[in-house]
Amino acid sequence: MKLPIVLVSQDNLALLSLRQQLEKENSFAVESKVRSFEEAFEFLRLKTGPTLVVVDLSRDSEKAFRVAQEIKLKLSGVHLVMSSPNNEPGTILRAMRAGAEEFLTQPFNWPEVVPALERIRTKISLQSARTLELGRIITVFSNKGGVGVTTVATNLAVALATTKKSVCMMDLVLQFGSVTTFLNLEPYYTILDLIQNLKRIDPLLLDGSLVKHASGLRVLAEPFYAEDARTIEPKDIDQILITLRQSFDFVVVDTRKEVDRIVSIALDSADLILFVTEMDVPSLRSATKALELFERMGVQQKKIRLVLNRHIKSKLINLESVEKTLGVKVFWALPNDYPTAIAALNQGLTIHETDPKSELAKSYRGMATAVLETITVSSDRRLDGGRKKSGILSRWIPMLKTK
Ligand SMILES: Nc1ncnc2c1ncn2[C@@H]1O[C@H](COP(=O)(O)OP(=O)(O)O)[C@@H](O)[C@H]1O
Ligand SMILES: [Mg+2]
Repeated sequence: MKLPIVLVSQDNLALLSLRQQLEKENSFAVESKVRSFEEAFEFLRLKTGPTLVVVDLSRDSEKAFRVAQEIKLKLSGVHLVMSSPNNEPGTILRAMRAGAEEFLTQPFNWPEVVPALERIRTKISLQSARTLELGRIITVFSNKGGVGVTTVATNLAVALATTKKSVCMMDLVLQFGSVTTFLNLEPYYTILDLIQNLKRIDPLLLDGSLVKHASGLRVLAEPFYAEDARTIEPKDIDQILITLRQSFDFVVVDTRKEVDRIVSIALDSADLILFVTEMDVPSLRSATKALELFERMGVQQKKIRLVLNRHIKSKLINLESVEKTLGVKVFWALPNDYPTAIAALNQGLTIHETDPKSELAKSYRGMATAVLETITVSSDRRLDGGRKKSGILSRWIPMLKTK
């Protein structure tokens, strides 16, 4: 996958030839707009994947150093390169101290430029493989349709992404997925492209297969054509989940209501299952059946958390009676607020963006915190005790195979 390159300069022409040269390169995706010192930080703040930034020192070098230092200090994932017509040792040393990984002298010496940038690209791939700690999978599920699974999954995923965690959502409603609609995103690639490339996946290729939300959340979209979902096999899903948890702190999976082989994998691989139900009798009946099925399937009860959606105070059914009926504690109760929920959905916004002061938005913020606590408090690395499997990671790092 192409490494994104952002050019930063106070002089639009200084980096023009570099931009033109990089546009010809297959391994890089250079931004066509050169960013000024003033706009660079804000622009880069919204990027979450690895990004290469070239800062030009030819005009107002003092300011350039200040900007570069701020970027390096506050933004992880940015790889800095500095460039100047002045290649005196003092300048190069200062650039290195500011965190530059390469220094490019102007006018550019092309046989040196591309290999220098390639070195950074290789370093990024190796680093991502080496510093890996597996992310947590949160599978959101209900065996009854329309109870709010996608609403819970999308709002939770965005909330987690805004806590500076890297988060990816996987739409496992493979035929008629709706995550991208909920978040008003237009994917260029889908899960099918990722499956095709699974054998040669690296962090950049992976990031390119996902669609990006303004919060930093990445989404793996369902196939464009519903009939193509049939070609996806359980082993593909297993492999994708392994790949995603190697690259993200959290993987949130939206599921459909049938427990087929594919959904079973998402339940089995999950560190946490948010089981969504409503409070009416038919919903509670289905919930009982699902929980019984989980038990027969050997899904560990300790990783299941009950989320009660559209909670209203009622004399007939209350939280205690729900807990008694299902034999499971209510982890979180989200209030009933159809106007806010539907307004969010129709605008492709989150509940928080739609009405941050609403009880529902407040409740979602609370739930995200509770999820983070549940996951980090567990002294065990994983709530399910860890499911060790050799996957892509062991291909990258052979010694892991022996563990
Ligand atoms: N807390 C809530 N209060 C009121 N309506 C809600 C709430 N959460 C979700 N909804 C609405 O319920 C409907 C079904 O939600 P959705 O997330 O698509 O369910 P599922 O994915 O389980 O089929 C949507 O119209 C959604 O706006
Ligand atoms: Mg849904």
